[in-house]
Amino acid sequence: MLSNIRARALSLQFKSIRRFVILILSRIPRDLERAIIFGDALNHLLMISPLKYLFKFSIPPNIKATLYDLQFESPLISASFKDDVSSLLQWQLVGIGGITYKTVLKSPSEGNLRPRIQEVNYKGDYAILNSLGLPTKGVRKFIASLDNKKMTDFNRPIGISIGGNSPEEYFVVFKEIDDHLNSLDYKQFFYEINISCPNTDDGKCLSDDLNNLKELLLKFRSISSRVIVVKVSPDSSDNDIIKICNILAEISKTAINIGNSKYVKADEVGLSSKSFSKEGGGLSGKNLYDNTLRMVQLVSSKYDIPIIATGGISSYENVRELLDNGASLIGVATLLVTDPFQIPLINQKLSK
Ligand SMILES: Cc1cc2nc3c(=O)[nH]c(=O)nc-3n(C[C@H](O)[C@H](O)[C@H](O)COP(=O)(O)O)c2cc1C
Repeated sequence: MLSNIRARALSLQFKSIRRFVILILSRIPRDLERAIIFGDALNHLLMISPLKYLFKFSIPPNIKATLYDLQFESPLISASFKDDVSSLLQWQLVGIGGITYKTVLKSPSEGNLRPRIQEVNYKGDYAILNSLGLPTKGVRKFIASLDNKKMTDFNRPIGISIGGNSPEEYFVVFKEIDDHLNSLDYKQFFYEINISCPNTDDGKCLSDDLNNLKELLLKFRSISSRVIVVKVSPDSSDNDIIKICNILAEISKTAINIGNSKYVKADEVGLSSKSFSKEGGGLSGKNLYDNTLRMVQLVSSKYDIPIIATGGISSYENVRELLDNGASLIGVATLLVTDPFQIPLINQKLSK
């Protein structure tokens, strides 16, 4: 009861501070990334000070979820979109059951030119459009940042999202990370293969050639027994989703994550070439929800493959509906940046 009141009060405070920062920093010229950089720095200061305990909420003991041998204290996990330790720490404190690092590629890359992320209105709902283009510190630096006690002390599963510009690159990244994980005592890691990339320059994706995907997954499986999740795009056809599920059904300890952001043209959401450097980008937020639910129903009605539902999830009602329709875990991104204090509130409702 008291913790619900605290979560509600902090939620109001968080939302007002966030709105104020965006108003001051991101309006002229329009670029949400300035507010994000400031917000991340502010959060970093909070997370290295005793004020971080304001974010600490316990997770009710009766809402555990599993994915093969991985144990999640809550079915809510952070989707792959950030890799700064302070954000991942904040979300674990508020009660996320597991985290997923932002997609890592083989070589360091700055991503696309700014402005490349904006908040927009899509069909009446708040949404975020990004064409970050997978900025990454590269696999070597990523590995060096992995043995972080601040993350592993929570003893919650940690997902590593892998991307690549070719199947060979995916494999190099996977192998380097797997070799390193094998040397660690901490065991609760899993992989997520990001096969949809609406933001890369050539627009090419592993999902374009499903034979490559199958071959690659078999290669991964031949060197690692960890859980492998394949994250698909909401732009995939039902037919492609079925084909991907047929592949996953043949490979042990795999799961599907439905799904990534959805490709939308910038001018459809009122952005000009001055406010968005690319023609379009990946849309995140509430508007994805109906399609997420539909895809979860499609997969769960035909397959036993565990499902992580991601895309547009913003309330307890969404979470309940997805779990009731066959999802094992629930991935959130936009909710974590707009209102992270919803996590303890949803956890509490799930425990009833
Ligand atoms: C700024 C930003 C960066 C993202 N980067 C990645 C990424 O690196 N890898 C990935 O698989 N998904 C990425 N995503 C997609 C999210 O993981 C998630 O699938 C999507 O935002 C839909 O969930 P939501 O509606 O809860 O935001 C990104 C999303 C945002 C907003």
